[in-house]
Amino acid sequence: YYDDHLDYVPREDENVNSEARHVLPVEADDFDMDRMADDLMPSSLAEIAVGNTTSSLPPKTDKEGMSSAPPDIQEDIRALQLDSYEDDSVVASVEDGKLEEVGKSTVIEEEVSSVVANVEDGKPEELEQPEMIEEVKKKEIFAPEDTEDLVEDKKKRHLNVVFIGHVDAGKSTTGGQILFLSGQVDDRTIQKYEKEAKDKNRESWYMAYIMDTNEEERVKGKTVEVGRAHFETETSRFTILDAPGHKSYVPNMISGASQADIGVLVISARKGEFETGYERGGQTREHVQLAKTLGVSKLLVVVNKMDDPTVGWSKDRYNEIESKMIPFLRSSGYNVKKDVLFLPISGLVGSNMKTRVDKSLCPWWDGPCLFEALDAIEVPLRDPRGPFRLPIIDKFKDMGTVIMGKVESGSVREGDNLLVMPNKAQVKILAIFIDEDKVRYAGPGENLRIRISGIEDEDILSGFVLSSVAKPIRAVYEFVAQLKILELLDNAIFTAGYKAVLHIHAVVEECEVVELIQQIDPRTKKPMKKKILFVKNDAFVVCRIQVNNLICIEKFSDFPQLGRFTLRTEGKTVAVGKVTDFASV
Ligand code: GTP
Ligand code: MG
Repeated sequence: YYDDHLDYVPREDENVNSEARHVLPVEADDFDMDRMADDLMPSSLAEIAVGNTTSSLPPKTDKEGMSSAPPDIQEDIRALQLDSYEDDSVVASVEDGKLEEVGKSTVIEEEVSSVVANVEDGKPEELEQPEMIEEVKKKEIFAPEDTEDLVEDKKKRHLNVVFIGHVDAGKSTTGGQILFLSGQVDDRTIQKYEKEAKDKNRESWYMAYIMDTNEEERVKGKTVEVGRAHFETETSRFTILDAPGHKSYVPNMISGASQADIGVLVISARKGEFETGYERGGQTREHVQLAKTLGVSKLLVVVNKMDDPTVGWSKDRYNEIESKMIPFLRSSGYNVKKDVLFLPISGLVGSNMKTRVDKSLCPWWDGPCLFEALDAIEVPLRDPRGPFRLPIIDKFKDMGTVIMGKVESGSVREGDNLLVMPNKAQVKILAIFIDEDKVRYAGPGENLRIRISGIEDEDILSGFVLSSVAKPIRAVYEFVAQLKILELLDNAIFTAGYKAVLHIHAVVEECEVVELIQQIDPRTKKPMKKKILFVKNDAFVVCRIQVNNLICIEKFSDFPQLGRFTLRTEGKTVAVGKVTDFASV
């Protein structure tokens, strides 16, 4: 992992086709909706996840075996095999030739030819001998001082972790405790928060105050904005994204999760609280489904509040929660063996977090503590040589225009010329910041603040994408997508003319489904023959979607993170999907 990052090569190499590395065999029992995303992982890593720690978990054979799942769950699982038929006939009717292109200005074309002389007609070159190519490019591109610089900045890997789960599960408390345990908050500050929390009649919320920094959040005891913090372990740097659990703030949660690599799903074990969160309509379910759709590839499920008097570190309660969550996680598309790890904690007391829980408190737990589990997680490799893509989540003025966002593909270097899309504004990179540190370049996965020249902050909206000049991101009014309908309001029908709010990376736009193209039979995974006029809950459908403003998106198969989306209406997630094409059919 680290080595690969050290091999960073600037964007002169964008003609390398990252898709060439995608192909992994699809296993028979693999029902992962994110097949394509996972395929970015080299096979040696694909095993993993939390591999070395999973083995120390208590055996749960009867829960793990798919065959023991009740029939309706098996159904669900099969229904999620959406990806495997993608290559067959579903999108075959969509002609490649009709792809909608945003006209490139002559200026851009000049830039393109000067930057990448060997891109032919925008066709990516086949990557036949990756190692060799990498070798050669490394030699060509790096002056010695650059390499040193790189080593210095990339000593530790970086992961974005989103904390999700039902309201009051203890996300902010756990996040705050992590910062306290990693030495970033001193005792005096904690005492100050204790007093403030007491004055607000929210005594037990003092740990959450570390993450919940604004007055409204502290008074109500609810996170509203996604809190951000950083901490480090021996091997990794983490950015914590503390999402709100309340259902009114799901759009904020979506924005947090779309920037994350892995998730910590916080579940309250307190009597009644697990149940409320887990019910249909509870945010435990909605968050899991959204996280999966938004590309959160691994989940640590922390069963929190184990210290609560109604729980008392009960093994039975822990097992009950785990056994109820497993089938649900599976039906949401997570591979429970490879991508999910459960562990008990107390975020408030700080037990089983930095060090393993004391045996006198919890004799039955043999697994890892939270810090160990976070350290052990591996995530798919990202291609530092891909075309540059950074969806802009925020912008402000600070000695020029500053934008914020996570690098989803490629790398950026001080002095680079890039485009802000869709307005095709040419900008120059003046300075790059990771956390508080100024760096000269940054690779994929990094959360950055970048100072740019060539554009005013008022000309940038969140959802715009800072993009490579040679291979700019596409901007479209219309696209073709595969959708899985989850739950329509009042069991309505889904038909042409259906309007919803589209959430795709940092974009939030009203949209309309203009045509249902095909329905897919979840059993055979083949498109159904007859023409469809409407579908209902749980259907899989291929459809054409329109928006009123240009949006920058990609096909899921090219850039999973920029091609997956959710449709919401009246505060509820009604469908999840992925972009399969841009053509009008
Ligand atoms: P939202 O931001 O509103 O979604 O909530 P949250 O998940 O961030 O929960 P928060 O951290 O604000 O905690 C909610 C309540 O649960 C507070 O009263 C906490 O003290 C309590 N709590 C959190 N973790 C624990 C724990 O480990 N044990 C006990 N006993 N209480 C906890
Ligand atoms: Mg919170």
